Amino acid sequence: MTKLILIVAAQILIFAAVASAGDLGRTMNGKHLGPYKKEKLTHLRVYWHDSVNGRNPSSVMIQQPVLNSSSLFGAITMMDDPLTLDVPSNSTVVGQAQGMYAAAAQGEIGFLMVMNFAFTTGKYNGSTITILGRNVVMSKVREMPVVGGSGIFRFARGYVEARTKSFDPKAGVAIVEYNCYILHY
Ligand SMILES: *[C@@H]1O[C@H](CO)[C@@H](O)[C@H](O)[C@H]1NC(C)=O
Ligand SMILES: *[C@@H]1O[C@H](CO)[C@@H](O)[C@H](O)[C@H]1NC(C)=O
Ligand SMILES: *[C@@H]1O[C@H](CO)[C@@H](O)[C@H](O)[C@H]1NC(C)=O
Repeated sequence: MTKLILIVAAQILIFAAVASAGDLGRTMNGKHLGPYKKEKLTHLRVYWHDSVNGRNPSSVMIQQPVLNSSSLFGAITMMDDPLTLDVPSNSTVVGQAQGMYAAAAQGEIGFLMVMNFAFTTGKYNGSTITILGRNVVMSKVREMPVVGGSGIFRFARGYVEARTKSFDPKAGVAIVEYNCYILHY
C-alpha cells in the first residue's frame, strides 16, 4: 500500500515537472498567422562602398593578418559601409552595411562575411537583412546566404550575388554590386 502511494506520488511529481516545462512554449493557433501566410520574393540591388584608407574610412582593420601571407589570413575588418542605388560613390544612399569581414582562407583571399544591411529609405527604412557567407573576392560572382531579417524582412531567407564593380588597391576602395533575393512575408 505504501509502495503504491509512493508510485502515485512520484507520477504526480513527474507530471507536474512535464506540465511546468510545457509552459515555456506553445503551438500558436493558425488564426494568429495573420500577415505570415503568404511568402513573397523581393529583389534589391545595391552598391556596397568599402574604403579602408583615406581621411574618412568606412571600415577599419581591427586585427592584422596573423601571417605575412597574400591571403591576409587572420585579418578582421569592421565596416559601416554605405549602400547606394548606383555605382558612383555620390549616388543616393539607401542603407548601411554594418558588420565585419574576416580573412578565413589560407590559399586565397576568402572572407567570412558577417553583416547586416540596414535600410534607411522608404518602406524599407528600419528594416534589415542579415548576410552570413563565404566571399572569395577574386571570383566573378560570389553567392552568400541571407540568414534572416527584421521589420519588413521578418522570417527572411534567401541569397545575394556579389560582383565587384571596381577595386583600387592603392586607395583601398572597393565597389561591389549586391543583388539580393529575399523570401519574406
Ligand atoms: C611581417 O612583415 C613585416 C615587414 O614586412 C615584419 O616586420 C614582421 O615581423 C612580419 N611578421 C611576421 C609574423 O612574419
Ligand atoms: C557625382 O559626381 C560626378 C562627377 O564625379 C558628377 O558629374 C555628378 O553630377 C555627381 N552626381 C551627383 C548626384 O552629385
Ligand atoms: C527613417 O526612420 C527614422 C527613424 O524612425 C527617421 O528618423 C528617418 O527620418 C526616416 N528616414 C526616411 C528617409 O524615411
